[in-house]
Amino acid sequence: MSKAPSKLSKVAAVSHTVGSSPKYRISRRIGGGSFGEIYLGIGPGGEKVAVKFESDSAKNPQLRHEYKVYREITSCHGFASVHYFGKQDNYNVLVMDLMGPSLEDLFDKCHRRFSLKTVLQIADQLLDRVDTLHGRHLIHRDIKPANFVIGLGEQCNNVYCLDFGLSKRYRHPKTLFHINEKGQRSLTGTPRYASINNHLGVEQSRRDDLESVGYILIYFLKGSLPWQGLKADTAKSKYQLILEKKQKISIASLCEGIPSQFAEFVTYSRSLKFDAKPDVPYLRKLFRDLYHRQGCGGVGKMWDWDADVHSSGRGPSALAPMPMNSTASRGGVMDGGPLRPTTAGAVAPSRPQTGWSTGYGAAAGAGAMNVMDEGGQAPTSVFAADEAGRKHKLGQKPAALRSSSKTGSAPAPAATASSLVPPRVPE
Ligand SMILES: Nc1ncnc2c1ncn2[C@@H]1O[C@H](COP(=O)(O)OP(=O)(O)OP(=O)(O)O)[C@@H](O)[C@H]1O
Ligand SMILES: [Mg+2]
Repeated sequence: MSKAPSKLSKVAAVSHTVGSSPKYRISRRIGGGSFGEIYLGIGPGGEKVAVKFESDSAKNPQLRHEYKVYREITSCHGFASVHYFGKQDNYNVLVMDLMGPSLEDLFDKCHRRFSLKTVLQIADQLLDRVDTLHGRHLIHRDIKPANFVIGLGEQCNNVYCLDFGLSKRYRHPKTLFHINEKGQRSLTGTPRYASINNHLGVEQSRRDDLESVGYILIYFLKGSLPWQGLKADTAKSKYQLILEKKQKISIASLCEGIPSQFAEFVTYSRSLKFDAKPDVPYLRKLFRDLYHRQGCGGVGKMWDWDADVHSSGRGPSALAPMPMNSTASRGGVMDGGPLRPTTAGAVAPSRPQTGWSTGYGAAAGAGAMNVMDEGGQAPTSVFAADEAGRKHKLGQKPAALRSSSKTGSAPAPAATASSLVPPRVPE
């Protein structure tokens, strides 16, 4: 249904290698989103990386901005390292660590339902990632399952946060002066997971990332969100319907049938003031206590997708250290999947593209409007999406990567690692 621009579809053919020293040989396509196409790259020593391409004629180029964001968080646990940014042929190119499948991909593998155990383990890591990002003065603004991936090899129990094209500084790094609360902003991010305030045009801040995390968790537990599948003639009216549904449905109904902690989470995130720092330790404790009360730690496989992902016979996941018990809370695999843009696009401001280094407010995305879909940001003319919101891109499914990304279940001992990429060393 949707199609990637022909130029991007030929990336691999055009650019056989990228980078200067080292050079990376471009192999197969492993993924893609609304704004970029991701290819497997092979370094001189056989090391594998992910290479994100963006056409330099993109209406709202953002890859340079994304690179700058990565540079700010590259040493943080749960975030990929970037190795190169440059221009090649007609593309902007970003080389980064190769990761495993996204949470949305894994959700699909698991027939679009996760157990409470898996969801709570995901929750613990998402909260940590968001907290880390916020600690670096950044808000993500596009929190969704497709933007979280699991690591490879030894890092398979770690969830990594990706895709910082819409990220923005919410406070000055030195003075910590918070951006001002403004109205009349365009919906930015992915409508399915967008906060109510985002729909309402309120400038985003930390609370909006948090609310999106809440929607992700409910989505994983219940299989869908009540505002999926709404029909409207235009993107704008569709997003209006999504907003109305979010406003109308009570939190109790939204969280019906799942533990009350999820309702508490949504209530809390919606109650935050614009410049409030979310109390992440409180939220993590909320879920950790539930996790232990439910006896999640001691039973079953570590992750719902273990049986699928570990079919190659890696060590039993039960041997993996339980991340929820870890003070550092480093563990936890997640799955995730790309957002599902729907055909009815929402309107969102363009991704920030300039001025990352020139000021914390510069990445506000004041550019042209991008049509986005309900489930994932889908800019515009570049990609379309099907009814379910899944983007269909050119190129093969990232099956090759997926199948080779045998995520072992245990982050330790290190000796068992058989990763496609060197394991990341946490900061
Ligand atoms: N470093 C990586 N390693 C492995 N897979 C990756 C990597 N980066 C991205 N991917 C895969 O490619 C997909 C798209 O990447 P990304 O989100 O960066 O692109 P995008 O065009 O900005 O996406 P969006 O549609 O969310 O705007 C991800 O959902 C993920 O599945
Ligand atoms: Mg993405």
